[in-house]
Amino acid sequence: MLSSIGQDGSPDGTNQPEVRGTPMAETHDALTYNRVAKAFHWTIALLIAVMFVLGWTMDSESRTESHLTAVDFHMTLGLVIMVLVVLRLIWRLGNPPPPLPDHMSRMERRAAGLAHATLYALTFAIPAAGLIMVLYEGSADLFFGLIDLRGKPLGSEDVAELFSEIHMWLGWALVLVLVGHISAALGHHFFLKDGLLYRMLPALSRTRRA
Ligand code: HEM
Ligand code: HEM
Repeated sequence: MLSSIGQDGSPDGTNQPEVRGTPMAETHDALTYNRVAKAFHWTIALLIAVMFVLGWTMDSESRTESHLTAVDFHMTLGLVIMVLVVLRLIWRLGNPPPPLPDHMSRMERRAAGLAHATLYALTFAIPAAGLIMVLYEGSADLFFGLIDLRGKPLGSEDVAELFSEIHMWLGWALVLVLVGHISAALGHHFFLKDGLLYRMLPALSRTRRA
């Protein structure tokens, strides 16, 4: 699936691909993620960090008249992330990532592909579970009062309970995968020194390339 659209741009796994008929070595930009990919990556990463801070600190019981509580921010920002992830995935289908460094084994490429696919899946599934939870709970106050469905539960409280659990556990799964993802990125940078991190960093990637 996602992993198959690839970390390794080459059809045969040799990592010596051609991009639209141009040998990879001839085009430097093909070795880094482009600006749109970086913008998606860092915007979503930052917003997700904010979501965890809100999720772990907010008073989830608060149902005030105000539409500006931390929970309201959490719900609205969460939906924005969900939309961004969908746009990012659609965009990625037409813009495959650059090939991974040559030294990476087939196993490492598979692990990277799987981790990235899992990150995409979780960053969509977590807000989706959150949305279902608040719709069934009758606590949805989205876009700062624009869609106020508080007190109008869609159905059974049990469904809300179930999706509350799912929302929480998928959140922990994301934390786990992110620990691996960030460790891998830093490991490549500090131990392997293969320049992989620069592929995803803004301006620096123009001067230090993988
Ligand atoms: C919520 C936080 C984050 C999420 C959801 C996330 C997600 C992702 C995803 C889905 C990709 C694959 C992009 C693609 O090929 O389409 C990726 C790539 C990457 N991420 Fe993150 N990321 C996060 C945080 C970070 C952080 C903090 C770092 C740095 C320490 C980082 C470094 C990288 C690098 C270097 C790549 C490119 C790997 C390569 O060259 O193939 N990410 N990230
Ligand atoms: C990427 C998006 C999201 C992330 C990372 C996220 C993360 C979290 C986390 C970590 C918690 C605390 C869970 C706990 O320990 O009990 C939480 C709670 C909560 N989240 Fe989210 N969330 C996201 C999107 C959403 C969305 C879109 C909604 C609703 C539209 C939502 C509604 C809630 C509610 C109501 C709680 C309170 C606790 C509960 O009743 O389960 N979240 N979220």
